[in-house]
Amino acid sequence: MKRISIIVFFLLTFFSACTKTGEPQMHPNAWLITGESESHMAKISESGTESCQVCHGEPYLNDYYGGSSGVSCYECHKGGPSGHPAWNEWMEPESDESHGTLFLDRGVLDCGSCHGLDLTGRIATGCDACHTNQELQTWLD
Ligand code: HEC
Ligand code: HEC
Ligand code: HEC
Ligand code: HEC
Repeated sequence: MKRISIIVFFLLTFFSACTKTGEPQMHPNAWLITGESESHMAKISESGTESCQVCHGEPYLNDYYGGSSGVSCYECHKGGPSGHPAWNEWMEPESDESHGTLFLDRGVLDCGSCHGLDLTGRIATGCDACHTNQELQTWLD
């Protein structure tokens, strides 16, 4: 009983704090800022994009076109929830935005936070889905 009233007390303070400051803020202030621990990139590298779908898409259709939040991942990323450029640019070796060039530029740590430090996958697909282990080894050396 005591515990319940403590919880009720906290809920009341929480909601009254929200009405005072207007709409409750969905995400931290640093959500869009590269390198911040409270950015959406940092959050995704911890736990992936699946949890975003509840509000940013239709989990049943497996899309990320906005859902109840009305904010589509495609608004800012041509590649949608991957956060990457459009597929044809990203996959085209001749393009300025090719993933290979970016990787060779930035190095394993940059991509490894999501694709695994050994590049075999973490919250995102392993590079070995398309590349040979021999290629991976050359890039890791
Ligand atoms: C509980 C619902 C909910 C979940 C879960 C959620 N979002 Fe959101 N998000 C929203 C709403 C609503 C907005 C609209 C803007 C606002 O109210 O802050 C938003 C806005 C955004 C924006 C635009 C931010 C801005 O400042 O313009 C980004 C980027 C975003 N969300 C990314 C994500 C990512 C990535 C995830 C998963 C890690 C996620 N969201 C999970 C509800 C959610
Ligand atoms: C208002 C614009 C905006 C929206 C909407 C948005 N993002 Fe982002 N996102 C960014 C910015 C800015 C970056 C950092 C880009 C950079 O550093 O080059 C980023 C980076 C990312 C990255 C890291 C990509 C990489 O190569 O490191 C992922 C993954 C990502 N976003 C996923 C999402 C998902 C999932 C959603 C939808 C739920 C979403 N984003 C919606 C602005 C947005
Ligand atoms: C969906 C398939 C796919 C995935 C997943 C993928 N790649 Fe690629 N990658 C390609 C294609 C296609 C090319 C262009 C053709 C080529 O050069 O072999 C390419 C090219 C490259 C190149 C340029 C090769 C060279 O010799 O110039 C590098 C480097 C590279 N990828 C790194 C990566 C890394 C690192 C990852 C994981 C983070 C990854 N790739 C994931 C398909 C993929
Ligand atoms: C913040 C997390 C994050 C970072 C950092 C990141 N990726 Fe990804 N990447 C994703 C997600 C999420 C997907 C889509 C889901 C999947 O393929 O598992 C993806 C997909 C891909 C794909 C498959 C094609 C596609 O668009 O679906 C390639 C290739 C790729 N990433 C390469 C890279 C390279 C190269 C780097 C470093 C320059 C990098 N990624 C950095 C999250 C990230």
